[in-house]
Amino acid sequence: MKKTIVLNHKTDLDYENIKYYIDQIKDKIRTDMDIVICPSSIFIPFFNGRYNFKIGSQNIGGYHATGELSGEELKSMGVSYVIVGHSDRKKYYNEDNRLINLKVKECIKNNITPIVCVGETIEEKELKKTQDVIIKQMREAFRDVKVDQDIIIAYEPIWAIGSGITPSITCIKEIVSMIKNSIYHAHNVNIRVLYGGSITEKNIEKLNSIDELDGFLIGKSSTNPDKIISILNLID
Ligand code: PGA
Repeated sequence: MKKTIVLNHKTDLDYENIKYYIDQIKDKIRTDMDIVICPSSIFIPFFNGRYNFKIGSQNIGGYHATGELSGEELKSMGVSYVIVGHSDRKKYYNEDNRLINLKVKECIKNNITPIVCVGETIEEKELKKTQDVIIKQMREAFRDVKVDQDIIIAYEPIWAIGSGITPSITCIKEIVSMIKNSIYHAHNVNIRVLYGGSITEKNIEKLNSIDELDGFLIGKSSTNPDKIISILNLID
């Protein structure tokens, strides 16, 4: 199966920057992988159907409410993936597993692939609660959901996001296998699992040696066109 690489631009690129970015990468993006660009939502229309990469949204509404993005709206703009439950949303908007569950359902209802973020805080890691925390996150995010191959999980330890620190290769292997096994036992399906958190051109080759991984979610390093092209070229 093709690797899935999700580029999360967060709020880092403004109008001039995104135009420059598209111009720089449009002919250089590899087509042997599923590259999913998640721009700020106001720039989604710049991408719709024009390029070789897929478009993701950084968020979706759990309710059809003022200020939110509905699954129908996203779908109509060519969005085929959504990042759900990113730790920024949990931290600043108090998103809990119940809301994440509604967002997963909104994606599925509209044939959009949710990329569900799971991961532990540094305190939970130190208390050796990583496994329990992730199992609870998955159980609640997928309550009453038919989990199939069109769902992706991104393992993103909260302490690794934007910090410059990554877990050891052994640790990522262990958690990713645990996630895959637990989904297989609960839902009888093999799903794709990505790793995200402080990926750079310096650590990508080591991370890419992890056979259990189906791809990566890249934040900060994905917003610089030269950097992201070299990172993508280091993935086999
Ligand atoms: P980072 O962000 O690569 O900047 O650590 C990862 C993410 O967007 O979750």
